[in-house]
Amino acid sequence: MPAEGEQDLREYGWESHGADGPVLREVMGLFPTGVTVVTTGHGEETEGMTANAVISVSLDPLLFLVSVHKDARLNQRIKEEGYYAVSLLAADQEGLSRLFASPERSSGLQAANSLGGGYGRTGAPLATGALAAIECEIEAVYPGGDHDLFLGRVVAVHKGDAGKGPLVFHEGSYPALHSTPRLGDSGAFMDSVRGFDVRTSRISNRKRR
Ligand SMILES: Cc1cc2nc3c(=O)[nH]c(=O)nc-3n(C[C@H](O)[C@H](O)[C@H](O)COP(=O)(O)O)c2cc1C
Repeated sequence: MPAEGEQDLREYGWESHGADGPVLREVMGLFPTGVTVVTTGHGEETEGMTANAVISVSLDPLLFLVSVHKDARLNQRIKEEGYYAVSLLAADQEGLSRLFASPERSSGLQAANSLGGGYGRTGAPLATGALAAIECEIEAVYPGGDHDLFLGRVVAVHKGDAGKGPLVFHEGSYPALHSTPRLGDSGAFMDSVRGFDVRTSRISNRKRR
């Protein structure tokens, strides 16, 4: 039931809730994301963790952001090292995602060996076979409730095997992404002022160049 003075949104098809953690978690599970492994340290000091709360924040200057739980081993280690690397996982790297999301995983050399992609400019290990890897030096750390937000200045970008397509996380699992673009559908949204074909024509113009 809506609170007093609040509009009843059921007629619009909404099932409304207040500030409900499990519901927020459930609805955010509907939002598909890519998957990364964030690493810091070097060799025996390696630490890594699976993360999807990553954002490319700014292009000028180049800034990136990773959200890491305060209790995660990686959190303290990034603060000590002052840098991190983000490997963007490819479709065939579900195993690596599961490994680095497991509390029982190893740190140190064993973690670095599991990643197997060498060490970047910051010294952080990279995941071999990933689509790409981005390295950052810490610019600022912002408190974010039970997480910390690590804003990083991008110092290196490594292109890997983009042809495999991304690993996708959706509703708690890793569905296969059908990569055939449905161009007709992608632009077919309704804009009540300009008409529905605005974006479709932009896409086809871009393709022609
Ligand atoms: C797909 C996926 C994405 C995740 N994203 C994040 C994230 O962005 N930030 C985070 O702190 N934990 C995230 N986690 C959870 C951590 O990987 C997991 O809880 C890990 O065990 C935490 O490290 P710890 O074992 O050192 O506590 C994610 C897990 C999965 C499976």
